[in-house]
Amino acid sequence: MKFFIDTANLAQIKEAQDLGVLDGVTTNPSLMAKEGITGAANITKHYVDICNIVTGDVSAEVIATDYENMVKEGEALAKLHKQIVVKVPMIKDGIKAIKYFSSKGIKTNCTLVFSAGQALLAAKAGATYVSPFIGRLDDVSTDGLQLISEIRLIYDNYGYQTQILAASVRHAMHIINCAKLGADVATCPLSAITGLLKHPLTDNGLAQFLADYAKGNK
Ligand code: E4P
Repeated sequence: MKFFIDTANLAQIKEAQDLGVLDGVTTNPSLMAKEGITGAANITKHYVDICNIVTGDVSAEVIATDYENMVKEGEALAKLHKQIVVKVPMIKDGIKAIKYFSSKGIKTNCTLVFSAGQALLAAKAGATYVSPFIGRLDDVSTDGLQLISEIRLIYDNYGYQTQILAASVRHAMHIINCAKLGADVATCPLSAITGLLKHPLTDNGLAQFLADYAKGNK
């Protein structure tokens, strides 16, 4: 299972990269705004800065919502760096744009996916990644993990190569359950990744080992 970090914060991306388990990064316009990155030149530079920190795929989202401008914007994003994946919203023109990018060998991430039908369309259009937002589904009393399992079944039934990128992940249990259900990737806040480290028995056990060592090695 691949781990992506879901942030535009360079310090957090570096921290995750230094941990040695990071496979990529996802951003979105809200995450860029949260870091105060505004204006075309700054946004472009920020994507390149992220690509220079990590070795894997970096999702950069188009702002346009019509086919022609999505294509224009996506092609410009893809030219920035070989690690850029063009993130496209799950709308009618988005599907057309994904099909176009796929025919040109440009990687895509179909975002804002909330149903199995949407995921099926993304795969048929040739998306590299599909992003079901499990946390946002949970927020409205709908089982986000159930969606991961439905998409896995459908993709396996037909051998679709589109990778299931579990998004809107909120905590460590989401990651574990996505791994059980066969999601290809989880994009997570740093806290969810480091949450996987934690267990009180590990902390207690280590404290005991160090104390016992110290007794005989003064
Ligand atoms: C990922 O690609 C999405 O942009 C992200 O996971 C959304 O997460 P949120 O629901 O926490 O905003």
